[in-house]
Amino acid sequence: MVEKIKSLLKKHNITIAAHYYQKDEVFYLANLTGDSLELAKKTANLDNPLIFCGVSFMGESAKILNPKIPVYMPKLASCSMARMAENELLQKNIEMLKNENIDFIPVAYINTTAKVKAIVGDLGGLTCTSSSAKNIIEKLPSNKKIFFLPDKNLGKNIANALRKSAKIIGEDGWQEADFILFDGHCSVHQLFMPEHIEFFKEKYPDIKIVVHPECSPQVCEMADFVGSTSQIINYVKEHKNERMAIGTEFNLVNRLKKEINPNIYILSSTKPECPSMNETTLKELYDLLVAIDEGKPYNEIKVDDEISKKAKKALDRMLELSK
Ligand code: 13P
Ligand code: SF4
Repeated sequence: MVEKIKSLLKKHNITIAAHYYQKDEVFYLANLTGDSLELAKKTANLDNPLIFCGVSFMGESAKILNPKIPVYMPKLASCSMARMAENELLQKNIEMLKNENIDFIPVAYINTTAKVKAIVGDLGGLTCTSSSAKNIIEKLPSNKKIFFLPDKNLGKNIANALRKSAKIIGEDGWQEADFILFDGHCSVHQLFMPEHIEFFKEKYPDIKIVVHPECSPQVCEMADFVGSTSQIINYVKEHKNERMAIGTEFNLVNRLKKEINPNIYILSSTKPECPSMNETTLKELYDLLVAIDEGKPYNEIKVDDEISKKAKKALDRMLELSK
């Protein structure tokens, strides 16, 4: 399958982009890899067809930023956090903000559907990623409140880093907080608990704890390093000889352990696999390429023109502010 995939990629001049959480069998075939921000930037400059191995919001963002190229996904797997900010609940949150006359800027984590990005873009807001959220929010007018969605953990962690207050919308006193948070979270990163850190620290007092900012604020406060997937990889490369426990998706942590440092542990007691990221397999990639070769492609990402235009505003503002 691998040889056939390679020859079909060449024949049709197709690029494969893959997120770090993809299975190794898929990840090692990719020409472009990165965290969400890097993948958005890299795929925006392509001139040839793209197969995106990741979750749906990543393929959608690539299509919105680069509408001239066909974008396919072997599997249309949606991130469960992105699904939490469904339009109705989001609309209710926005009505609450308007009814209270709150002067806010909506900041949507890139882990949102195109429709949600369009709503945010239309309200003058923007997207961000885990690696860019702090820098971007620092550049926004300080007299406005931040309505952060959908990840309450990332929102609270950024607020803490900027020494700002944060509350979930609807909580007591939410109207006074600097950051107003949508009540969403990542089902994978919620697995990492303060008890896991205590366990490792007791066993190996010199161990470094490294986590993704989708982990809870308690976990992030106890960690030695908090960063996006690319930032975690760089940290691991810079601390090659240290024992580490890492709190992020299994495929990435396992790859780092195999390739860079055998003294790496998974931080949770449960295997932290993202079900959506793991939906894409070598066989799915192979089947899609064969279908493209036979002139019967499927899973081509299409985004409604109006939604795409509005969502692009939110993504473009992020790219501009993260330069
Ligand atoms: P990164 O932008 O850090 O790659 O994160 C993407 C993601 O979905 C983390 O769960
Ligand atoms: Fe979504 Fe969490 Fe999976 Fe990342 S790890 S894609 S946020 S469900």
